Formats: sequence, structure tokens, C-alpha cells
Amino acid sequence: MKNIILIGFMGVGKGSVAREIVKQSNMIAVDTDDIIESMENRRIKKIFEEEGETYFRSLETDVATWLRTSVQDTLISTGGGFYKVKNLKKIGTVVLLHAEFETIYQRILDHPNAARKLKKRPLFQKIDKAKALYDERESAYLKQADIVIDVSGKSVEKIAKELLKKVKKI
Ligand code: S3P
Repeated sequence: MKNIILIGFMGVGKGSVAREIVKQSNMIAVDTDDIIESMENRRIKKIFEEEGETYFRSLETDVATWLRTSVQDTLISTGGGFYKVKNLKKIGTVVLLHAEFETIYQRILDHPNAARKLKKRPLFQKIDKAKALYDERESAYLKQADIVIDVSGKSVEKIAKELLKKVKKI
């Protein structure tokens, strides 16, 4: 089986869906932000503060190269900007988790740790800026995707089930 790469905007639920897919299948999962944090031994927020976004994006490129050359049969959840790396499709089947911006924002606010969820995301500090980023990226996300899953109003169980079914058909 090819790798599955989950892409989508910050807060859409890539991490939760990845954890549920692991439960429903025998796949092993990795997360690009987690890999970067362990490579650097500091949080994403700190990397942005201390080195800036360009440096962070270069780490994403390094991770993409490693995934493409060394990782198989794996579920890969990604940071919201990872979809931009070159040759994304060479890493595996690209699945976009899609929802409207308002739905995503509400999902974050409904979380018991909403403040922490927002604080750790340097590009989600101002809602109007985050919305502008969403608008800027929406069509690019769709272009990159082999499969699109609309996650609005669905449980993670349902999303994971739908995803695994669609991936099997490819
Ligand atoms: C980013 C999304 C974040 C993280 C970084 C940049 C982005 O990941 O990679 O803050 O450019 O959208 P999440 O999508 O998990 O929040």
C-alpha cells in the first residue's frame, strides 16, 4: 500500500483523523510537525519565533525528501503548509480534509484546550489573517488532492472510515 498523506488547513482535524485511522487499520502514523519538533528539539512556535517561517519551510522540504526516499505503507499527517512541498504526490496518495473556514474556527473554539490550540499556531494568531491564508490556499489544496473528504459535521470515526474506503478504490 502507498503512503497516505493528510493535508488541510490548521485545525481541520488532521491529527485526530490520523489517530482514528491508526485505530481502524494497521497503519503506522507519523506527523511532519512532530518530526520537525524532534529534529530541532523545540516547538514549532519557537522555530517560527527564533528562525522565521522560511527556515521552517526548509525543514518541511527536508522532511519531504526523507519521506519520499525512506517511508512506505505509512499514514502521514502534515502541517497546514506542507502541501506546498515539491513532488508531494511522489510521497503517496494525497488526501485533503476540507471544511469551510468558519467550521474550522468553531471546531478549535469548541475544544477544551482552545486557547492552547491557537497559541501554538503562529499563523493562527489573528483571525482575519488566518482567514486570508485560508482563502489564498483553498484552491491550491484542492489541486494537490487525489481525494477530498468534506469533514463538516462528521465524526472522526466516519471520516476515517470514508477515507480508508476511498483510498482502497484508487
Ligand atoms: C502551518 C500549520 C501548522 C504548522 C505551522 C505552519 C501552516 O500545522 O505546521 O504552524 O502553514 O498552515 P497544523 O496544520 O497542524 O496547525
